[in-house]
Amino acid sequence: ACASVFGRVDAAQADLFPKLTFQNSALILVMHYSRVMPPDGDHRYFTSTAVFLNEVIKLAISLTLAMYETSKTLAPSTPATVLFEQIYNGVFSSDGWLLAGPAALYTLQNLLQYAAAGNLDPVHFQVLYQVKIITTAVFSVMLLRRQLGFKGWVSLVILTCGVCIVSLPSSEKPSDSFLLHGVPDHFFPRSKHELGQTVAGAAIPEPALHLSKRSATYEGIAKDLPPADPIMNFSVGVTAVLISAVVSGLAGVYFEKLLKESSTNASVWMRNIQLSFYSLIAAFMGGCVYQDGEGIREHGFFEGYNAVVWATILLQVAGGLLASLVIRDADNIVKNFATSISIVISFVVSMWIFDFTVNATFLLGTSLVLLATYIYSVPERKLHRPSPVRIVS
Ligand code: C5P
Repeated sequence: ACASVFGRVDAAQADLFPKLTFQNSALILVMHYSRVMPPDGDHRYFTSTAVFLNEVIKLAISLTLAMYETSKTLAPSTPATVLFEQIYNGVFSSDGWLLAGPAALYTLQNLLQYAAAGNLDPVHFQVLYQVKIITTAVFSVMLLRRQLGFKGWVSLVILTCGVCIVSLPSSEKPSDSFLLHGVPDHFFPRSKHELGQTVAGAAIPEPALHLSKRSATYEGIAKDLPPADPIMNFSVGVTAVLISAVVSGLAGVYFEKLLKESSTNASVWMRNIQLSFYSLIAAFMGGCVYQDGEGIREHGFFEGYNAVVWATILLQVAGGLLASLVIRDADNIVKNFATSISIVISFVVSMWIFDFTVNATFLLGTSLVLLATYIYSVPERKLHRPSPVRIVS
């Protein structure tokens, strides 16, 4: 599927796709790990601070690139003040405020992505997140007047069926609140400790001490103790990832429309500065003040930060910059298909690192998602290839 997507764009653009695929797979794996690993201190990091810092770094990079881009259009002796003035005018140009819309949506999407990655294993996350292919296609038809064609709609129906199958909770899972699929082994001692604290004075029951190291569920604990703080909650994860997919589709198409159809012809870096500027406000007000304000006031902005958290933030920065280039050079639909191969990468890595196990239903759903991706992305001419004509001399 990835190769067929590559066949639709030129070589320079195709060069971006393996990077985006790698970034996408790595981001969700590292983000998931950052949410389930034992925190260094008393508390895990606040996700809103990560979303905020992501925007700070993207703003700095976009500003640097916009200054470089603008400086090339000026004479070498032009004073720096003229350069700054041009950037300022570009950023706060008449339609710059329109980026407030996609900025608010992307901020919501990024916050939801953290919630989803903390409550789902990376494979379920990636498969369910493919819903953004549907939402992006629908918003592209509505806002950008794109044609999907028969093949496009058929593949979207198959994709929807696949996603529905994958989102069905498995009967092997005893209860949402005790779902621990995909938690690394070294997480367990801390979880037991937390449970022990939650149920004051209660001894950890025997079944808890026999937690299977492979794909463990707290079945024993669930029977014998009142529910403690859930570690991974399937329903919360599914809800967060599905809403995030809808918001991703709308935000992406909205950004593409402003980038490609605006009369001001602002460059992608100028648009990214505007986007980050409004995203910073949204992430601060909605995330750092509203969502996590109390916790941040009590424990500090950098509570729980370690190398894994920084790696998550940097991967998200790389993803944002790559996504904007792919949206500029191709479009959102192509971007989504280029990243759908992340399902396979997450699958292999999760089986290896997170002891991920699958059942037949999950495999059926995932196969449908991959089939839909292939049908959608394969060029029309390959599906209806004429039989080769033999030239007889
Ligand atoms: O999953 P999806 O492809 O929609 O994710 C796009 C990501 O790229 C989001 O995290 C969004 O914040 C980021 N982005 C960005 N700058 C853009 C477009 C998207 O940082 N111009």
